[in-house]
Amino acid sequence: MKGNVLNTDLIGKEKRMSFFIGIDLGTSSSKFLLVDENGVIRNEVSKEYPLSFPRPGWSEQEPEDWWKACREGIKELLAGFDASQVQGIGTGGQMHGLVVLDENDCVIRPAILWNDGRTAAQVDYLNGVIGRDRLSALTANIAFAGFTAPKILWMKENEPDAFARIRKIMLPKDFLNYRLTGVHACDYSDASGMLLLDVEHKRWSPEMLEICGVTADQMPKLFESFEVIGTVRPEIAADLGLPAGVRVVAGAGDNAAAAVGTGVVGEGGCNISLGTSGTVFISSKKFGVDPHNALHAFAHADGGWHLMGCMLSAASCNKWFCEEILKTDDFAAEQQDITDEKLARDPVFFLPYLMGERSPINDTNARGAFIGMSMDTSRADLVQAVLEGVAFAIRDSFEVARSLGLSIPESRICGGGAKSPLWRKIFANVLGIPLIMVKTEQGPGYGASMLAMVGCGRFESVQAAADELVQPASVTRPDPELTARYEERYRKFRLLYPALKDVFPQLL
Ligand code: XUL
Repeated sequence: MKGNVLNTDLIGKEKRMSFFIGIDLGTSSSKFLLVDENGVIRNEVSKEYPLSFPRPGWSEQEPEDWWKACREGIKELLAGFDASQVQGIGTGGQMHGLVVLDENDCVIRPAILWNDGRTAAQVDYLNGVIGRDRLSALTANIAFAGFTAPKILWMKENEPDAFARIRKIMLPKDFLNYRLTGVHACDYSDASGMLLLDVEHKRWSPEMLEICGVTADQMPKLFESFEVIGTVRPEIAADLGLPAGVRVVAGAGDNAAAAVGTGVVGEGGCNISLGTSGTVFISSKKFGVDPHNALHAFAHADGGWHLMGCMLSAASCNKWFCEEILKTDDFAAEQQDITDEKLARDPVFFLPYLMGERSPINDTNARGAFIGMSMDTSRADLVQAVLEGVAFAIRDSFEVARSLGLSIPESRICGGGAKSPLWRKIFANVLGIPLIMVKTEQGPGYGASMLAMVGCGRFESVQAAADELVQPASVTRPDPELTARYEERYRKFRLLYPALKDVFPQLL
């Protein structure tokens, strides 16, 4: 790969190990990994920051909080290591968030995040007036409330003075990359989720920019995820303790980065991510669109494409129920009483639509619900209903993929929720496929470090990095009897949302 050779100045005379930093800019925290050139994770640091819900269904964060976490996180990560061995940095970031800067590069307003549902009117305008077919022809996707384009329209309509001050539009991880390098860049996987990219041809859509009232010079320059966008600015390198010339790659949306981290690259692999959001990610070498646009058609970080279903509240449902309602952070203890015998026999159902829902129902008015409780319903029954409800909602996206004729014989699984053996068992049986955890289960952060390795010439492609670095650790296989029981439960789950769909808007 031209220009992507290892920086031997950094290595020194005797052959020293090169290090790479992988960042996962998440919604509840950022995670930082120090990974050596053999893929071994040498250190891991996590930094939390606030998430605010200024109104029901709204979701915002301060980009400066991400940058503070990034600076502190990298310094802590490198403490006790020889920072001069660092060659490259890659970031996988929460997707779709709108970050806007003024002419002085100051943040104009808090970032409007991927799980924010304020843009129902703008989504109706885009899908209804501009039209779903036209959007799909221009971008391979239709509008969903979390996507960036409807947020730009919302700002134009609701905050015209602030909108007029916008000089740069960017996504969350691109804000970090901009602060690190001074280069206004974005990669194709993350740009796909803006509804401004012609995904098939990997270029901004002039029509979509016009529809949203923005110009090409406000938009970032586009790169493949593994391409180097620049080097860390000298004053930032001095502050972080990094050597001169550390390369920063464009990075990826967190789902594409997680798929790289679990080895789901090339043709026909599947990764399930069970984090704040829950996603089903199906990789492909060829560009393809879901004719009903229920699944997103996005670029992948390996140079190819993928289809993805995204539910807005996945592991966050369990976190919410345990922490906010049961007032405990001992999730494992809450799952102790859920024996094998009880699986698929809980009379209680849970609809996991705490932030509305994206895939496949695209409904900002939908809300969470427990249904089927009686006087003998126990605490453990409710916890179980939450775990099963999230698995059923992921199954909804699986069904869409299957209806497109895609075969998914097995899947990788990652994210905080996947660490629970019980939840993995529920997922494997609700979906009826084996689920594979990999040894380096850090998902986006690990994938992002692999992208940095490719950018610095350690590997010649993302596929080569995945082939060498990603290894399976465990497989959770479905049990035919339990799968059959879950089939029956899923059939009942599917009755619930249609019955409540028209009720939800009346509750607001
Ligand atoms: C994907 C999506 C979420 C966020 C979470 O479309 O919105 O998975 O990327 O960080």
